[in-house]
Amino acid sequence: TDDRPAGPVPPVDPGKLKAFLDRLSTEVHAADDWGQVATYIPELADVAPNQFAISVVLADGTRLSAGARSVPFSIQSVSKVFMLACVLGREGDNIWRRVDREPSGDRFDSILLLEQEKGRPRNPFINAGALVTTDAMLANRAPKQALSEFLGFLRAAAGDEDIHIDPSVAASEARYGFRNVALANYLKSYDNLHNAPELTLGTYFHQCAVEMTTDQLAMAGRMIAQLPGAPPLMAPARARRLGALMMTCGHYDGSGDFAFRVGLPGKSGVGGGILMVAPGRASIAIWSPGLNSYGNSKVGTEAAELLTDFTGWSVF
Ligand code: DON
Repeated sequence: TDDRPAGPVPPVDPGKLKAFLDRLSTEVHAADDWGQVATYIPELADVAPNQFAISVVLADGTRLSAGARSVPFSIQSVSKVFMLACVLGREGDNIWRRVDREPSGDRFDSILLLEQEKGRPRNPFINAGALVTTDAMLANRAPKQALSEFLGFLRAAAGDEDIHIDPSVAASEARYGFRNVALANYLKSYDNLHNAPELTLGTYFHQCAVEMTTDQLAMAGRMIAQLPGAPPLMAPARARRLGALMMTCGHYDGSGDFAFRVGLPGKSGVGGGILMVAPGRASIAIWSPGLNSYGNSKVGTEAAELLTDFTGWSVF
């Protein structure tokens, strides 16, 4: 439990943090319940649940990791943060005319509020909102062009060219993504998709199929954490707002629970990845593919909680 006294939080000692991460990576392997891997596509259903990785980049550039730090995994909905960052760079605050900034309290793929709120999704991190963001990125271009800009952005953010899309995951997403097809058509009926639904969907399925390691993801998160060495891809004011959205909406209907337990902005993906930022202090990526009932990494969330207890990085 977090028994820190009130008051300023001292900087973390990198040596002690590294020892903590190693201990954490060993201890999580004693877990008897790793959660359930996603089963909606075979590529995710076939991943062994008992895997764990954590990577941290500190404000001074120090990089610390433990566990399966070099294993690429499907980032899935973590991509929604970077897609939104791209779109904010392209068209600025105009995107907020098409998507709101409130938590939905519903599952990530829910269609309920979309009818009640006349086709304007609650936030850019639920699937409906992400489809609108992706549609804005597409902007009447060929999906290939938008995706190559998106990949370029991710590679620049991570400082690593070795980031790719897994075409078999993208194909499976397209084959089984019936709810996303429904959401896209619903958005189109409200005139909130500007491209043909199949083009926006194809782009969205490919962005979800990006593979990254926790080392790469933690590096890519530096700009959102506003770390001094981050590539200048985003204004600090925008990074702060992205953090606010991650805190309030990044874990869907589990966002309140994540904020309560971890106290940091975070974005989860159904592949078991979590990107978290401790503003001004660190960028953190965790991966463990077994999910809890909200569709967020089970062991990953538990590890995130232990990390903020240890470091005092909760923003509260
Ligand atoms: O669109 C979907 O349903 C998936 N490709 C991504 C969803 C996701 O990652 C939700 N997160 N927990």
